[in-house]
Amino acid sequence: MTVNTTVTVRVPAKVNLQLAVGPGREDGFHDLVNVFHAVSLFDEVTVKEARSRRPSPPGGGGSVVAELTAGGGLGSHLSRVPLDASNLAARAAVLVAERTGKGFPVTVHLDKNIPVAGGMAGGSADAAAALVACDRLWGAGLSREALLDCAAELGSDVPFALVGSTAVGTGRGEVLSPMASPGRFRWVFALSPHGLSTARVFREYDRIRPDAPPPSLDPALAGALALGDPAAVGAALTNDLQEAALSLLPELERTLGTGRGAGALGALVSGSGPTCAFLVGGGPEDAAVVAEREASVVAALEGSGLCEQVVTAHGDVPGAVVL
Ligand code: C5P
Repeated sequence: MTVNTTVTVRVPAKVNLQLAVGPGREDGFHDLVNVFHAVSLFDEVTVKEARSRRPSPPGGGGSVVAELTAGGGLGSHLSRVPLDASNLAARAAVLVAERTGKGFPVTVHLDKNIPVAGGMAGGSADAAAALVACDRLWGAGLSREALLDCAAELGSDVPFALVGSTAVGTGRGEVLSPMASPGRFRWVFALSPHGLSTARVFREYDRIRPDAPPPSLDPALAGALALGDPAAVGAALTNDLQEAALSLLPELERTLGTGRGAGALGALVSGSGPTCAFLVGGGPEDAAVVAEREASVVAALEGSGLCEQVVTAHGDVPGAVVL
């Protein structure tokens, strides 16, 4: 058997095509109907044996130490990545060690392209990648089900980063059912210079919508996805957290309006924000038409002075893969 000394896992960002949020639960979470769609903005997480490897104490997984570093092309976003034990990727390494009794000290490098605290599940993606990478590096042999179970323990969005493609998340978002989405869609993302805390946006949601109804899947979105019809998908994009995100960062309304005005087929705040997502085409549409629309949306957003960075991507794409 080959022993890997370094493992790199590539993992995608997500955008929510629908995020329906029910009333607050007793455990502090909210029941969701969350249509996740994985897009081609990738983080790469590399784990290696730490140089200062100490012998593992007997039974030792719980002692695993993960030293974190981060890099990538995100400008000011990188400064928001915590590089201590609170980082979800470090917690993922510890969890694999605890569950399997295997593991030795590792360095974990996060090569980031997914916005940080941006509503695109970048921290969750890194955690999913770290689960897969540590499992492989340590030969821990966790099953797919066990990895998904660890993922759900780490956070509501972590299981989807393992699975990728397009899926509906229910419960607090961690119970996944795959969803057929035959079309390939092109997206533009406007990154904000600010971050938003997910918990804070949910609190704002509770303040604005104390009487939220139970969440349900929008049949118009499901139908549009099944047909791979970009105009219908664009028209059906909804996010119950958008109003709360706009209440905390009102300038996002102008960002959304700028992309819409430049021809986007649909626009919404991604997850808890503040990244704004613009669907610019796909499916059976002529590639030149899509490229023109995309260029127009990118130019308008870049010229608006509202965004820190504007990036393009396509979806859907698979979940975490070992490179
Ligand atoms: O699951 P995760 O750790 O990513 O959630 C972060 C925070 O977002 C939670 O502490 C909670 O405040 C809020 N949340 C929620 N309902 C969900 C998912 C997250 O209220 N379904």
